[in-house]
Amino acid sequence: MPKYIPEPFKIKVVEPLTMTTREEREQYLKEANYNLFALKSDYVYIDMLSDSGSGAMSDSQWAGMMRGDESYAGARGYYRLVDAVRDIFGYRYVQPVHQGRAAEKILYPCFLKEGQFSVANMHFDTTRGHVALCNATPKDIVVPEARDTENYAPFKGNMNIPALRAFIEEVGPEKVGVIVMTITNNTAGGQPVSMENIRETSKVAKEYGIPMVIDAARFAENAYFIKMREPGYADKSIIEITREAFSYADAFTMSAKKDAIVNIGGLIGVKEDEELFTKVQGLTVPYEGFITYGGLAGRDLEALAIGLYEGIELDYLRYRIGQVEYLGDVLREAGIPIQYPVGGHAIFIDAKKLLPHIPYYQFPGQALAIELYREAGIRGCDIGSYMLDPDPVTGEQPEAELEFTRLCLPRRVYTQAHLDVVAEALINIKKRAHEIKGYEIVWQPKVLRHFTAKLRPIE
Ligand code: F0G
Repeated sequence: MPKYIPEPFKIKVVEPLTMTTREEREQYLKEANYNLFALKSDYVYIDMLSDSGSGAMSDSQWAGMMRGDESYAGARGYYRLVDAVRDIFGYRYVQPVHQGRAAEKILYPCFLKEGQFSVANMHFDTTRGHVALCNATPKDIVVPEARDTENYAPFKGNMNIPALRAFIEEVGPEKVGVIVMTITNNTAGGQPVSMENIRETSKVAKEYGIPMVIDAARFAENAYFIKMREPGYADKSIIEITREAFSYADAFTMSAKKDAIVNIGGLIGVKEDEELFTKVQGLTVPYEGFITYGGLAGRDLEALAIGLYEGIELDYLRYRIGQVEYLGDVLREAGIPIQYPVGGHAIFIDAKKLLPHIPYYQFPGQALAIELYREAGIRGCDIGSYMLDPDPVTGEQPEAELEFTRLCLPRRVYTQAHLDVVAEALINIKKRAHEIKGYEIVWQPKVLRHFTAKLRPIE
């Protein structure tokens, strides 16, 4: 029987959920044009759309919110946050911003010139976008195991080091403006990166004189995987592992809406380069506001400084990753194909395997996400062909390498019973999988269509 790691907290405040009937959900789906982003969250029973900004803050964080100093300049929370970042990451300079993509908007133009490349294990979508906005090209060089959903590998998020070297040699080091390490590797399914791989990537970066940046959205989950899986780290604390990992990079961007367990917030960290940090501060003022608040309220700074420490507590991380592993184990026992091993923040169901009769151009990942909502009011999302915009010239629908339905776990929000509801719904769906139909798009915008497209079932 899969093991559930009990919560290292008890519940003090509750938020009621709406229970809907199947008929109501059918109606809501129609009204939303079968786009789950268009559903009112009030109609969702278990919301697994994202683990970003959807976590539950602790009583200490809420107390911090009350203590928040709303002074325009020099607020207390700012100094507290700077101390926390120096302590946890060992970086001298820190700039708060309102979320992860704001950090990218400020930091990437400091590194990238027109015509250069940004090379990463895998860029997250928004990072990719900000690289493109610098008129530079994002290049992903992940290990081949990342694309193998069935076989165990401890660090499927790793950079492919020989391929990284080969790429730099091919285009020339002056063409690579920055090397990015995304931990955990969200695009590969929240898969971790090993310390050895971070160290080796850093060696290559130094050898060629290229700056290295960590995308730190899920840094604590990554550190936990290193502790559990990498030889030599079992006896190290999460903070020690974090300090070592960040010592190999020059700067980081962070969406604090994930591992720092706040509903809004982000960070830029600069290890020691004063000139770089001066540039960062210079861009922060017009984009995000004065440097001591960076797009956040004083109360948000307090909650973030506290959340950074809560997010690296070992008991919390054991429970957190334990939840994802529990759901993964229950699903695997029931023969539901998922990406294995599970990553840190989500379950990725292999919709192509579960719904083999639905071709990629009828969007199996989206069809399964819709069916889960219909079955039990659970909201996930497609990470597959539906997410890929058609070719701008030919209008042709590209085929994704993998057709996933992603189910994210918000932090400290759902219980074991909720996860059992998710498993039961998927088991029911599997029984009648052959009856599930594909979808076609009836309207779509030019770019990022999955957020707003309108669909209809294929009869
Ligand atoms: N980097 C990574 C690895 C992310 O996963 C995200 C956001 C960002 C940067 C951007 O941060 O949203 O605060 O601006 N990921 C969310 C998700 C949206 O659902 O995976 P942001």
